[in-house]
Formats: sequence, C-alpha cells, structure tokens
Amino acid sequence: MNEKTVPATLKVGVVGVGWAGQQHVKAFSAIDGVEIVAVAGMETELLESIQSEFNIPHGFARWEDLVELDGLDAVSVAVPTFLHAPITVAALERGLHVLSEKPLARNGEEGAAMVAAARKAGRVLDVVFNHRRRGDVTKLKSIIDEGALGRPYYAKASWLRRRGIPTLGSWFTNPELAGGGPLADIGVHVLDYALHLLGEPKVISVSASTYSELGSQGRGGDVNYIAASSSHKFEVEDFASAFIRLEGGVTLLVEAGWASYRDQADLMDFRVYGTDGGAELRAAQSHEISEAGLRIFTDDDNGTSIDYEAETLEDGNHPAVVEEFVNAIRAGENEWGSHDGSVALSRALVIDACYTSAREQREVRL
Ligand SMILES: NC(=O)c1ccc[n+]([C@@H]2O[C@H](COP(=O)([O-])OP(=O)(O)OC[C@H]3O[C@@H](n4cnc5c(N)ncnc54)[C@H](O)[C@@H]3O)[C@@H](O)[C@H]2O)c1
Repeated sequence: MNEKTVPATLKVGVVGVGWAGQQHVKAFSAIDGVEIVAVAGMETELLESIQSEFNIPHGFARWEDLVELDGLDAVSVAVPTFLHAPITVAALERGLHVLSEKPLARNGEEGAAMVAAARKAGRVLDVVFNHRRRGDVTKLKSIIDEGALGRPYYAKASWLRRRGIPTLGSWFTNPELAGGGPLADIGVHVLDYALHLLGEPKVISVSASTYSELGSQGRGGDVNYIAASSSHKFEVEDFASAFIRLEGGVTLLVEAGWASYRDQADLMDFRVYGTDGGAELRAAQSHEISEAGLRIFTDDDNGTSIDYEAETLEDGNHPAVVEEFVNAIRAGENEWGSHDGSVALSRALVIDACYTSAREQREVRL
C-alpha cells in the first residue's frame, strides 16, 4: 500500500499460526471488507488446514515472503517476541499497517524502533492488549470514569498460576527469544489494564523482584499449553513482583507468575481502593475452575456499607482489538498518528525498569 488512501477491501496477512495467530485469523475473517490473503507459519499441516478452512490463497513458511507479497495493506504479527520488531519494521517500511501481539518487543529499545518506524511510515501500529477489552475490565473502567470510586489511590494487579509455564523448553523460557518470563508475557496485560483503568498516570519509579525457583528445576510447566517446543533452558523468571509509584501519590502493585505453590486457579485479580469506593475483579481460568466477578464496595449517603456484584459488559477480547485496528485504518490518515504503538512502548519501558530494578536490587526512576 503505497498511497495514504484506504482501499475498499483491506488485504491482510497473518504471521504465526499458534494460539495467537489463530485468534487473529478468526477475528479478521469475521469482518466485512477484510480479506486474509496470506498466512505464514512453520507448521506445514496446520498452515494448510487454516488456509483451507478460511480460504486463504497464500501460505508461507517464512515471514519475509509474506511481507514481500504484492497487494497487502496490513500485517498481523503473532510470532515469538524476538520477531516482533524485525517483522513490524520491515512491514512498516513497505507501507503496511501493523497489528503486533504483546509484548511490543523484547525491550524498550526495540519497541522504540518500532514506534519510530510507524511514525516515519505514517502508518498504524497497534498492539494486542485484549485483556483490557474483557467485559469485566470495560465495566470497571466505566465505573471508575464516572467517579463512583472517587479518586483511586491504591491498586493491585496480579496474574498468577500454579503450573502455567507455557511449555517448559519452548521459546517462552529463553530470554533471547522472549525478552523475559511472566512479567513480560502475562504481567504486561495486567500492567496495561491497571494503568488504563487508573487513567494513564505517569509512572515515577519501580522497585521489583524476580524469582526462578520452580522453572529452573523443571517444575511448573503447563501440560495443556502447546507452544512450539524445543530444548531451550529455563533462563527467565517464573515469578515477579513490582511496587510501582505513580504520579499523584498513587501506588500500583503488580504480580505476575507462571508457577508458584498456590491455589490451582489460573487467576487474574485486580483490586483498586478509591476515596469513595473500591473494586475487586477476579477472572479465574483453569482446567477445573472458571469464575469471573466484579465486586464494588462503597457507602450510601448515611455511611452504611453497600457492596454489590456489578454486571459486566460483553467480552471484546481479540475480535475487539482487531476491529479497532481495521477501523483505525479505515478512518484515514488523520487517525493513523494516534495509533503509533506508544502506549505499548510505555508498558515496555516500565517492564525494562522492573528487570533493571530486580537485577540491581534498587528502585529505578523512569
Ligand atoms: N494476546 C494474548 O492473549 C496472547 C496469548 C498467547 C500468545 N500471545 C503472543 O503471541 C505471540 C505468539 O505466541 P503463541 O503462543 O501463538 O506462540 P506459538 O509458539 O504457539 O506460535 C508461534 C508461531 O510463529 C511461527 N513462526 C516462528 N518463527 C517464524 C518465522 N521465522 N516465520 C514465520 N513464522 C514463524 C511459528 O511457526 C508459529 O506458528 C507471542 O508474542 C505471545 O506473547 C498473545
């Protein structure tokens, strides 16, 4: 796509056919006026079955071949994290819009190069933060924004698993390929929606700890997760905790763990305390347990406690993110500048600071 015009039918390519790439294919295929013209992935049989199920004419084993295909308007990047930056930059330089999976990149430096490439190309760079599009999170956002909790001053966001290392020995456990462990993988989701819920306050400093007590012993692997596996050693953290100071004296605690001795539930938990009310959001996903809930705690005019379960909104998840990406492209070039990946970069910089803090055992200012 060389002109800054928007074609009637958007031609899209998806790189990666693992769990994430499949969500992209399903979501694009459900949007009128979007045609998936190519997919890329190294699993030949899976690639062919996706091509046949979704009627996709081109299939490639190498991402380079997909990005060079003539006639593309946009590319989705759903591959191991070390490939996010090279694919994104190559696609932007060809004038394509890019939707990248989270985390933006292995670190802030790579992420900054992606954002700079989007600005230089004048194209959209969106990053998949699907958890902020869950119905419980969007409901809580509207409750906070309408002032029902007063001024939020303290929040805690965690995503913890008992045995949830996404395949021991896969690319996820190699820092060169993944950039980090659960903090970069699932912590980035809860960090993202926590800062989004709190109204994007400036991050002042972080103080973090990381541990690698179970993964390094070959424990804590999720037998139900099927990321492409090889013989990588476990060289990332399996648990991380961060104390994050935000502007206005607000504190955010983040915990992200693939494995620790705790309840079996794969639990996402968010709590926020405000001057007029508080909220607790729980989303547990495991093979045995599934629960979700948003509870609000406040007082009536007489000071009597009112606690209630809020009805959550419809889940958006990947389809909502993909739809927003398509809508941003279709909105035309005036809209593209506000989709330059900079929110994702701000998350990457916080995560970089957490790793520095943990490594050097000190508080790091941003
Ligand atoms: N947003 C979410 O909820 C979510 C969930 C899972 C994963 N992810 C992210 O999605 C990305 C992929 O994760 P996954 O779990 O699907 O991984 P995966 O290992 O299951 O799949 C990776 C895919 O990339 C392909 N690939 C690797 N190298 C390639 C190359 N050189 N050329 C073409 N294809 C190549 C593989 O063949 C495979 O199809 C990661 O960045 C991960 O963080 C996001």
